[in-house]
Amino acid sequence: TAAAAATTASAAQSGKKVTLGFAQVGAESGWRTANTKSIQDSAKEAGFDLKFSDAQQKQENQIKAIRTYIQQKVDVIAFSPVVESGWDTVLKEAKDAGIPVILTDRAVDSKDTSLYKTFIGSDFVEEGRSAGKWLVDKYKDTKDTVNIVELQGTTGSAPANDRKAGFDEIIKSNPNLKVIASQTGDFTRAKGKEVMQAFLKANKNINVLYAHNDDMALGAIQAIEEAGLKPGKDIVIISVDGVKDGFQAASEGKINFIVECNPLLGGQLMQAVRDVLANKEIPKRIVTKEGVFTSEDAKRELPNRQY
Ligand code: AHR
Repeated sequence: TAAAAATTASAAQSGKKVTLGFAQVGAESGWRTANTKSIQDSAKEAGFDLKFSDAQQKQENQIKAIRTYIQQKVDVIAFSPVVESGWDTVLKEAKDAGIPVILTDRAVDSKDTSLYKTFIGSDFVEEGRSAGKWLVDKYKDTKDTVNIVELQGTTGSAPANDRKAGFDEIIKSNPNLKVIASQTGDFTRAKGKEVMQAFLKANKNINVLYAHNDDMALGAIQAIEEAGLKPGKDIVIISVDGVKDGFQAASEGKINFIVECNPLLGGQLMQAVRDVLANKEIPKRIVTKEGVFTSEDAKRELPNRQY
């Protein structure tokens, strides 16, 4: 819009510090801590004035933070939406105020994609597929039923929806692979442990745990050990993220397979802020590159892990 062009032009021309308002999800996991640090360090390096808020995993808090940034007339608003739905109204308010919005890490399901400039982050469906492919391959010769329990991320969040969808899509190729229980652990260690305890109580024969992040897997490992079972052996464990603690557990053989999700989005975000303020065309979707790690890979990689 003309208003947006005027704002960005004035920020760029006046030589004043660029102000970036960032509404973070919370501090629910090791991944999130690394993501926050990356954003704070990169903003500092870029010489931006960063206004940072932590929504404690509540959408209403994020909406409040975004409205505050609009009132403060920041140059750019970036945020990682805790859930996918329900953003249209506040994003429209930002657009009407001429403030460009950048999504990082998690997507929104808004039909009107003019409400944001770009979305920088992982392909969560692909992450779910990678988890599923490893499992399908591991059990390709098995004639028995494989009982899987799933710890989902925060209900309604893009990573929970997509990691489930990608995984389900792949494992349905083998009817022996059965998800017998699936519940949210809210991406936290405490909830992961609590829900795994309930799974263990209700099901005698769990073969596999698929956790949507390392923290929930780490909580579940405690529950499994307290139940007198061996994580990684009695129950095969797959998780997503690849934070240091996850790698540690994998290198000890307690997690069998980790699908990486890269939290270091700060550099790409600051570049996108610069580009948006310079009125450059930027891609609507910027996908982060990531790998997969077995226990052996994790052992090798652990000393190099930054977060
Ligand atoms: O949105 C990314 C996810 O959020 C990470 O995989 C999880 O650890 C975090 O809480």
